[in-house]
Amino acid sequence: MATILRTWSYQHQWLYDAIARLAAVSVGGEARFRQLALQGLTIDSETKVLDLCCGSGQATQVLVKYSEDVTGLDISPVSLERAQRNVPQAKYVEALAEDMPLLSDRFDLVHTSAAMHEMEPDRLRQILQEVYRVLKPGGIFALVDFHRPTNPLFWPPISLFLWLFETETAWQLLQTDLPGLLQEIGFNLVEEPTLHAGGSLQVIHARK
Ligand SMILES: C[S@@+](CC[C@H](N)C(=O)[O-])C[C@H]1O[C@@H](n2cnc3c(N)ncnc32)[C@H](O)[C@@H]1O
Repeated sequence: MATILRTWSYQHQWLYDAIARLAAVSVGGEARFRQLALQGLTIDSETKVLDLCCGSGQATQVLVKYSEDVTGLDISPVSLERAQRNVPQAKYVEALAEDMPLLSDRFDLVHTSAAMHEMEPDRLRQILQEVYRVLKPGGIFALVDFHRPTNPLFWPPISLFLWLFETETAWQLLQTDLPGLLQEIGFNLVEEPTLHAGGSLQVIHARK
């Protein structure tokens, strides 16, 4: 699945950003989308934050407004080069999320946006285990990603979006009980996941 638009969107940041802006209309715009996973969290200048699968720094640039200790991690050197240019206040690590070269119990907050839907189920579980490892006890994992729409009117737009830009793994995420998986790994949910855009987006806060 997916179309050439997916390849192009990863090659050209302007296209990725335009698509992200378009998709974010469903929650009131990109600025609001970038705040969704952060609502209700306490982040100060000393909070140690990991932006997991940071891409070109789209969410990292919001996180550095709160904390002076933000690390972005991604597997794509091209994206990391852009992130370094776009958000030089953060540090960056080129690595696989499922095998992070980072100390255990290191971060107060691991944030990830619009990335877990790119992972096959086995890899997703490994990544969540790694997130658990690198978080300090009591640390929070905040994620925002796709969810199976609860409002039937949102099925056509999300189906079109996934067909144009995503692969099978995004459809698999719609079938995945992420809160259940996190709890199996050892996380406790801070509160019930919140749903947005007719249920097509979920925000989860889970504590180690
Ligand atoms: C859709 S982008 C999301 C970027 C950004 N977080 C955002 O909100 O726009 C997904 C990112 O995940 C990265 N990625 C995919 N698989 C990964 C893995 N196994 N380990 C680390 N990064 C990965 C990709 O390189 C890409 O930058």
